[in-house]
Amino acid sequence: MYVMGIETSCDETSASVLNQDFRILSSVVLTQDEIHAPYGGVVPELASRQHITSIVYVVQECLSRAKLKVEQVDAYAVTQGPGLIGSLLVGLSFAKGLAYYFEKPLIAVDHLEAHIESAFIEHKKVPFPALALVVSGGHTSTYLMKAKMDYRLIGRTRDDAAGEALDKIAKFLSLGYPGGPVIDKLAEKGNPRKFAFALPHMTDGSLDFSFSGLKTAALRKIEEHKISKKSPLFHDFLASFEMTVVRALLANLTQAVKLLKPKSILLCGGVARNKKLRQRFTELARKLRLTSAIPSPEFCTDNAAMVAALAIEKLKKGRKPSLSLDLNAYPRISSFTPSSKKRK
Ligand code: KG4
Ligand code: ZN
Repeated sequence: MYVMGIETSCDETSASVLNQDFRILSSVVLTQDEIHAPYGGVVPELASRQHITSIVYVVQECLSRAKLKVEQVDAYAVTQGPGLIGSLLVGLSFAKGLAYYFEKPLIAVDHLEAHIESAFIEHKKVPFPALALVVSGGHTSTYLMKAKMDYRLIGRTRDDAAGEALDKIAKFLSLGYPGGPVIDKLAEKGNPRKFAFALPHMTDGSLDFSFSGLKTAALRKIEEHKISKKSPLFHDFLASFEMTVVRALLANLTQAVKLLKPKSILLCGGVARNKKLRQRFTELARKLRLTSAIPSPEFCTDNAAMVAALAIEKLKKGRKPSLSLDLNAYPRISSFTPSSKKRK
């Protein structure tokens, strides 16, 4: 069985083919970074137009790298939401068209759920219960999983996502878009202990996250110390800010581990590409004697392999593919609604 995934929820046009054993036959990701960089963030209208321009090429390239003819694809999978509505509609309409024309099943998947699934593509033996930390540009949440596709929301950000905080500070310092990878690189040259930031934490005992206070504190320090690309403290500032984001994420995770006692921890989403976070996450798992799983960097940021993988998982669990052409994209409200049993 060959399943083609299509992902266009934000600013990456991606297609990928996996077989029934989750082997990736091809994975093509075309980023739009250069288009949005001058604006310091994704411009939704430009994103959807670029998806329209790129989607045929990306799907053709995906088939050619997989050495498959389009008729050989057995099922299509597509991201339904959350994301930018115009961008989502391009992928969804294209996938619907292919499924309809070739009379193949179409499986719509949730973007966040697909990010979690990305941790399993290369890690087949993850012991459950597993605690998944999803850190992207739009989301920062933890989920407890008793088994594959069985999620309980443990905590989520009450304001900014971690990636959003990194992107905003980078934008303020005119470092380009996306800011996360730029900060990752520049922070290598700095001293992470030079600037002291208070660690954000919840005072109500919940396992939620918050990054807007940290972002404000960082903006204040930029003004106070006149931080700019030319200032001698530039790299130290970025290293200290990055380290605080990493420490905040891992402090929360440690608390959740102590409470929920999982057997493994998973790290997914675009920010999971961050070198410091990957390193500290792995060290933490070792210290806590837990199995850890982090996708390879290319499967952390938006990609269609995770979309196809989740669809295969759903098909294997006997979920009925949605053949209906009434399928709609959802920008915010997710159909992925794990029971959110918040701690008292
Ligand atoms: O998962 P993703 O591709 O899109 C969303 O679903 O949001 O994540 C994008 C986010 C951006 O905020 C970007 O700055 C961040 O991931 N990111 C990184 C790195 N690479 C991407 N953050 C820190 N270090 C990186 N190397
Ligand atoms: Zn994403």
